Amino acid sequence: MSVFVVIFALCYCSKESSASVLGRPELDGPAAALLGDIIDLFCEVQTFPEDESILMLLFKEGDRTKILAEYTSMNGEIAEFPLVVRSSHDGYLECVARAQNNTLIQPTVSDRHYLKVVDPVKGAEVVVQSGPVEFYGGKTLELRCDVAAGTHVSYSWLVNGRPVSPSPLRNAAQNQLFIYRTTPQDSGSYMCVATNQLNVTQVFTSNSSEVLITVTVKESVSNPDISFTVLKEATQDYYALVTCRSTRGTPPITFSLYNRTEFVTNKTVEERNTAFMIPVVLGRHLGWLQCQADNGDQIAYSPWMPLEVVPVGGPVTMRYDYDVGENFAVIGEVRFYCKSAKGSHPRYQWFFNKTLLAGRGTFYRVVHQPPDQSILFLTVGRSSAGTYHCEVSDSFDKTTVIRSEKRYLDKEVLNRLPISVVAVVFGCFIFLVSMVSICCCIGVVFRRRQYGEKSLWDLEMEHVVVAYDDKLDLEEYREEADVVKAARIDESDQESEASTDEWPQIAEEKKTLEDEPVEEP
Ligand SMILES: *[C@@H]1O[C@H](CO)[C@@H](O)[C@H](O)[C@H]1NC(C)=O
Ligand SMILES: *[C@@H]1O[C@H](CO)[C@@H](O)[C@H](O)[C@H]1NC(C)=O
Ligand SMILES: *[C@@H]1O[C@H](CO)[C@@H](O)[C@H](O)[C@H]1NC(C)=O
Ligand SMILES: *[C@@H]1O[C@H](CO)[C@@H](O)[C@H](O)[C@H]1NC(C)=O
Ligand SMILES: *[C@@H]1O[C@H](CO)[C@@H](O)[C@H](O)[C@H]1NC(C)=O
Ligand SMILES: *[C@@H]1O[C@H](CO)[C@@H](O)[C@H](O)[C@H]1NC(C)=O
Repeated sequence: MSVFVVIFALCYCSKESSASVLGRPELDGPAAALLGDIIDLFCEVQTFPEDESILMLLFKEGDRTKILAEYTSMNGEIAEFPLVVRSSHDGYLECVARAQNNTLIQPTVSDRHYLKVVDPVKGAEVVVQSGPVEFYGGKTLELRCDVAAGTHVSYSWLVNGRPVSPSPLRNAAQNQLFIYRTTPQDSGSYMCVATNQLNVTQVFTSNSSEVLITVTVKESVSNPDISFTVLKEATQDYYALVTCRSTRGTPPITFSLYNRTEFVTNKTVEERNTAFMIPVVLGRHLGWLQCQADNGDQIAYSPWMPLEVVPVGGPVTMRYDYDVGENFAVIGEVRFYCKSAKGSHPRYQWFFNKTLLAGRGTFYRVVHQPPDQSILFLTVGRSSAGTYHCEVSDSFDKTTVIRSEKRYLDKEVLNRLPISVVAVVFGCFIFLVSMVSICCCIGVVFRRRQYGEKSLWDLEMEHVVVAYDDKLDLEEYREEADVVKAARIDESDQESEASTDEWPQIAEEKKTLEDEPVEEP
């Protein structure tokens, strides 16, 4: 382009006169300067018309309205532009040469010259753009480095004195630092270092050392639990002590209590739990309560809890069970269960021979499962033989005590065969005996028909068989279909053997059945 312009100018000028040719000026000077310094720029025209004063002008590129400096060159001497460097001078400058009194001579323009105006950086300061210095993990930390003065500044960041290593979650751009999805490990003293330089040797630095910022990352409060216990005051009034408890979250935490319709009360505490006293009326449903926990980020909610205090009442039942082995002996512990028909806040107590059992002892341990029940685990032995019962009262008011019935327990009571087992075995035996008898009878009758006579003994036998049949329980028959089948198979082979073998054992079991468990009132 410039070549074209020169050629064009030469052609154009040659038509006029060689004397009227004005060459392109050349602008020279320092490439960088400090703000406020006085520098000299030089503009020189190699080819110029004789006897013409040439006016040399200094402009910012693209802005011909404002002359930065001017010089009149009579005989082609180099124009000198002294310049007090201002920030507006930063950028590209150009020199325009123009014949002062001859409008026929076209003005010419130099190539642009870059001048970097450096204002030494000063007063670097970290600004936390994302908000408070303490905030919650997961959020983005946004820091900005502000400087009081400085041009062409570059920034670097330090955390705890070490450079912030760039990563996908840490991004430094311009004068800003972004740390995404922060964790407590991102806490630390952040500092920015602002730098600019005039040339290789003249480097300016400003540390934000005076503005050390410790960024701690707070943890959001977790959804609280809600529960309550009941208190009886000396004034005979009852109160619910409603406890709100969060497992995580940096205090202070504000806990607020709401019922379905409105705010009830609030409290700000330095712990993760708090309690509120709410007056209650026994036996009445007092609505639903919810805890809300807030430590500045977002509100965490508890489930809704019904507020109802039901005093204990109704019968208190105590039952027990245990596991039995192959020989019907007790395996492991015997479990006693105590349960009251009514009561939202029961207190269970276990007694052995009228002594209170609590927690864990040599032969027992107590496991409360309020409000449903309480379990007493016992190891069967000499020391655990005795009388057991449980008592239930309200946890907040011990004036009403309801007792269960008492029950005597020892090894013998437990190792007695369970009644159902005995019944089944006995039933099977009777069935077997009757089947054998029927077969015998049929056999005898068949033979008698052959011989044509019937003895008294046979008649008696028939009678006995009928009597046994009446005793059989049909239900048990069906339940024990498999046993019956097995019995039938046995029958075909070794009927007499089976029946005689089982007699003494069954007799023994029958005797055991008759032994009722000893129960004290
Ligand atoms: C240019 O012209 C002006 C008047 O138009 C005159 O005063 C001045 O002396 C001239 N300068 C030169 C260098 O000829
Ligand atoms: C840098 O600038 C200073 C001040 O203008 C000057 O004294 C020094 O010689 C320069 N150094 C280089 C390497 O240009
Ligand atoms: C600024 O910080 C850098 C890096 O920590 C250190 O080398 C330099 O001396 C500090 N400058 C000032 C003026 O504190
Ligand atoms: C707590 O309740 C009081 C009014 O009882 C209210 O002024 C305050 O803003 C509440 N605080 C919070 C954190 O909700
Ligand atoms: C909610 O609490 C307010 C004030 O404690 C009470 O007046 C209102 O009856 C309660 N509402 C329910 C549904 O419990
Ligand atoms: C508990 O009472 C029973 C009788 O009811 C008695 O045999 C047993 O020895 C007593 N046990 C203890 C530890 O007092």
